[in-house]
Amino acid sequence: STNLNYPKRSVGKAGGMPVNQAVGFSYPDASSPCVALRMGSAVPGGVGPNKDIVAFSSLCTHMGCPVAYDGGTKTFKCSCHFSIFDPENGGQMVCGQATEDLPKVLLEYDAKTDTVAAVGIEGLIYGRQANIL
Ligand code: FES
Repeated sequence: STNLNYPKRSVGKAGGMPVNQAVGFSYPDASSPCVALRMGSAVPGGVGPNKDIVAFSSLCTHMGCPVAYDGGTKTFKCSCHFSIFDPENGGQMVCGQATEDLPKVLLEYDAKTDTVAAVGIEGLIYGRQANIL
């Protein structure tokens, strides 16, 4: 899952991230939309001062439709064929047509600058043979 060719790209300041709201960014390149979330309490794989920040590719693993974050249920929902993914559980597919979890963006947190950075991806971005083109 780690790959030295992945760029390191700032996602933003942990303190500036709204709780339970999607923050969009692109990674590892402009054609790969991703979403960062600050869940509000610690989750598996979470980074930041509260270990609650996670990020995922926002392309559904079924057929590549964009997933939308629903703060009410704290899940990603795909409106194409209704797959649901759980960001508090590593992007795990909860139900639907998809068979793979959402690719997880690996994050690093720098406490000195309060900055969250994307440093890699676990899982294959939809439609690609490799995450780095
Ligand atoms: Fe998302 Fe089919 S593309 S469920």
